[in-house]
Amino acid sequence: MCGIIGYTGHRPAVPIVIEGLKRLEYRGYDSSGVAFIQNRSLLSIRAEGKLEMLEQKLAKSDPYLATTGMGHTRWATHGAPNEQNAHPHQDQTGRLALVHNGIIENYQSLKQDLKQEGVIFQSETDTEVLVQLISHLMKRDELGLPEAISRTLQQVEGAYALAVISADHPDELWAARNSSPLLLGVGTGENFVASDIPAFLASTREVVFLDDHELVCIRPDSWRVYSGHTLEPVDKAPQHVDWDVQSAQKSGHKHFMIKEILEQPGVIRDCLAGRVDRDRGRVVLKELETLAVPARLHIVACGTSFHAGLWAKYILEQWSGLAVQVDIASEFRYRDPIVLPEDLVIVISQSGETADTLAGLRIAREKGVPVLGICNVLGSAVARESDLVLYTQAGPEISVASTKAMCSQMVLLVLLALYWGQESGRLKSASLSRALQEMEGLPERLEKALPALRETAGFLAQTYSAARSFFYLGRGSNYPLALEGALKLKEISYIHAEGYAAGEMKHGPIALIDANLPTFALITENDLLPKLRSNLQEVQARGGPVIGLTSSALDVGAEDRWEIPRAWGVLDAFFMLPALQLFAYEMAVYLGKDVDQPRNLAKSVTVE
Ligand code: F6R
Repeated sequence: MCGIIGYTGHRPAVPIVIEGLKRLEYRGYDSSGVAFIQNRSLLSIRAEGKLEMLEQKLAKSDPYLATTGMGHTRWATHGAPNEQNAHPHQDQTGRLALVHNGIIENYQSLKQDLKQEGVIFQSETDTEVLVQLISHLMKRDELGLPEAISRTLQQVEGAYALAVISADHPDELWAARNSSPLLLGVGTGENFVASDIPAFLASTREVVFLDDHELVCIRPDSWRVYSGHTLEPVDKAPQHVDWDVQSAQKSGHKHFMIKEILEQPGVIRDCLAGRVDRDRGRVVLKELETLAVPARLHIVACGTSFHAGLWAKYILEQWSGLAVQVDIASEFRYRDPIVLPEDLVIVISQSGETADTLAGLRIAREKGVPVLGICNVLGSAVARESDLVLYTQAGPEISVASTKAMCSQMVLLVLLALYWGQESGRLKSASLSRALQEMEGLPERLEKALPALRETAGFLAQTYSAARSFFYLGRGSNYPLALEGALKLKEISYIHAEGYAAGEMKHGPIALIDANLPTFALITENDLLPKLRSNLQEVQARGGPVIGLTSSALDVGAEDRWEIPRAWGVLDAFFMLPALQLFAYEMAVYLGKDVDQPRNLAKSVTVE
């Protein structure tokens, strides 16, 4: 979950590396550093804290003119987040520097061996073992840099994306990956490696997706991919990505989070594009053409993506008639799930690199069950390892709190539910057409609704800003949204919040209710409304204030009523979700929290 960028070209490397790190800071932000080669010497500058601390340090010197360099932004796993443990790490000679994202599981034993050989370590990290071992092998076995990297990687266990520079090869940067993301950006007279596309998007949109156990060498005018084991060249071709630079920038917004919340109408539009045949009133999912309607579905995901999966269970069961099981990936991977070859496992991941989700995917494949990956990041591990992939096409999501990704996942899951309903003949064509019509109308309706939603969210956030805890209650498909509303509030405002199935409150949590604990109720006009009303009365009878987020015109007797536009059945989720996101956002802004980079978090969780 750290971010890596490497550059070699004709321009000064340090500003390019810093700009790249800014685009990657969502991946980790407890320390950062750069290394570059100037006058055949290797210089490394590191700082504890956010990237601006590193920038302040760099600003104290004259501009650096090096044209080869690399940078790293860290989310600590081994060793405290201080300068000493920040990357890049150097070998004993100070001629080699290395940045790394991932975890080296056998670093203790490698470190022990190297210590016995007289190597002195400077940090507590697992990463330092890599650079010391490469250097040690170069010296002891008289190996060249690529040979030593290759030999080192054959000895390490675990996940890595790494980049190495050497003062003895000033125009060269080597990089490798296994289970952690790393891409090559192909420019003109310059080349890049990075953990994610936005890092070099301002310079090139030509991308080479590296595979596990591949090694790449970039020079200003050339690049070459090799097998990490044999050093045999591997043929690779760049692919053009159509993300634009703006999509990776704040474009006038105060935070990425608000920009991404407000992008949701466009996200829905993009996600539907090419997947709806209006004339025939049918869903077209070309990616699934070779797949028969599965017997059962198993959805596996983490965090917000898990909530999208849980929400989809309700519509998948109703519209497609398929039995659906939804699992948190970290649980799925360690039980012995009963998944059969005629089933389908759906893994949902924005980043496509969440460690637990990937493990779930691999277990399913080992059991011979086909896997459908729903993910946002092109060429990510989930995309490569799944049998079939549906991209959510939401564009880069930079804010650590996921917003538009969930919206896009929900759109795809709606399409899937309709598709299997259509293919199995269960869904009547009138219902199918109605649902598709509603979906297609959503972007415009949401666009119009967002300003008012934001205003009410701001008002309510201020009204309830003294609360130290919240309940979020919903029934049916509003229950997963309640979980998501609570998660968003927790992660960016640090206010405790619990999402609950409204009917479950009386089995314990109601004991917590008092006048200082507001309840956010998610209200849709359906058969469950009278039951939800009773649950809310139980809360109010104990002095708890209720905020009613409702798509119904009916009075639910809430202390604060927040009416949102009404949509067809469960589709009002596409208004409820942004309302919940906006409430969390406005609360965090009002309380002065670090919205885009909340404490202790990182966007891609590539560790267990
Ligand atoms: C919450 C959030 C996380 C992610 C989770 C899964 O706002 O961002 O809960 O949803 O870490 O990430 P992906 O979808 O990348 O697998």
